[in-house]
Amino acid sequence: MKLKGLILSGGKGTRLRPLTFTRAKQLIPIANKPNLFYVVEDLVEAGITDIGVIISPETGDEVREALGDGSAFGAKFTYILQDQPNGLAHAVRTAREYLGSDPFVMYLGDNLLWGGIGHLVSSYQPGEDYALVLLTEVDNPSQFGVAELDSLGRVVRLVEKPKVPPSNLALVGVYLFDPYIHEVIETLKPSWRGEYEITDAIQGLVDRGLKVKAHKVRGWWKDTGRPEDLLDANRLVLSKLTRRIEGSVTDSEISGEVVIEEGATVVRSVVRGPAHIARGAWIEDSYVGPYTSIGQGSRVVGAEVEYSILLPEAVVTHLPSRLDSSVIGQRVAVNGRRNGPVKNTMQLVLGDRSQVNL
Ligand code: DAU
Repeated sequence: MKLKGLILSGGKGTRLRPLTFTRAKQLIPIANKPNLFYVVEDLVEAGITDIGVIISPETGDEVREALGDGSAFGAKFTYILQDQPNGLAHAVRTAREYLGSDPFVMYLGDNLLWGGIGHLVSSYQPGEDYALVLLTEVDNPSQFGVAELDSLGRVVRLVEKPKVPPSNLALVGVYLFDPYIHEVIETLKPSWRGEYEITDAIQGLVDRGLKVKAHKVRGWWKDTGRPEDLLDANRLVLSKLTRRIEGSVTDSEISGEVVIEEGATVVRSVVRGPAHIARGAWIEDSYVGPYTSIGQGSRVVGAEVEYSILLPEAVVTHLPSRLDSSVIGQRVAVNGRRNGPVKNTMQLVLGDRSQVNL
């Protein structure tokens, strides 16, 4: 038996606007590494190296360029263009030829899972299990697919974004399918939101009396769909960081778990970990506080930044207030004219190439 992988990296990413006006949401970096890379690494680590990648006409080129042919990950990618974001089941149908008669793991490109998918893959019993789903308890089940289990822990019902959720168990965006799923998908009708839902396809398996197994997430899981989720995912990944100082540090105080990559420069500044400063970044007369990622080639001069993400080549200078809980897009410039101490904090979520003068 050979398991294939299917990564969903199409869609529109409306919830992450303005950041996703200009980029694929799956490529937004978490701790300076694109979300999609974590997804690929999870699959490869579970032994899945033949991977189909669903892309959209809008962001497909960018995704292709970032991921390459797969050799950098020890994998082989086949790109599959989905012309419209008509739903997760529609994406599977688009990939049908590629998937053939092999079972596969489908992994949503904007999901981030800590702890890997090894346990899911190793518990799969071909010929017996028709789907394996991952579940986790959430506070806001109405925003996800939700599963209802019976007293033996079997999945009895699945609903997509229910107004009145039958439980607090959300479907995580990682699924393992027997190829029989294709037959069910052929019979689906669009949901109230006009999409072919994978949740409905799994319900179709349950309705046919076929075995759907549920696993609880080990570690943690994030759907990085909204800016606050990105910041939280960034926090979670950074909290596992170990100190590595390879860049140049002068007259500065670096405390805790801090990564300063080769080619990054820190001058007359304070950096408190966990924080990640990527190659080519420049930090001068500044404070970089916990849970901050500073992207490649970014500049932070005369500014204070905490619990924030700066995308590559973002520039923040002489800010009158501390930047907190902010996501600053690629090549954004936020220039202040501070000539006294830093007062208060401010929160900004800025799409690529924005300009703010304070
Ligand atoms: O994150 C977990 C949730 O993901 C589950 O709880 C839900 O049951 C499941 O339907 C899904 O819900 P979302 O509304 O979060 O899905 P979203 O539209 O954000 O799409 C998820 C990923 O799949 C995203 O990376 C974009 C991609 N995608 C999406 C659609 C609709 C495609 O590649 N093609 C598509 O047609």
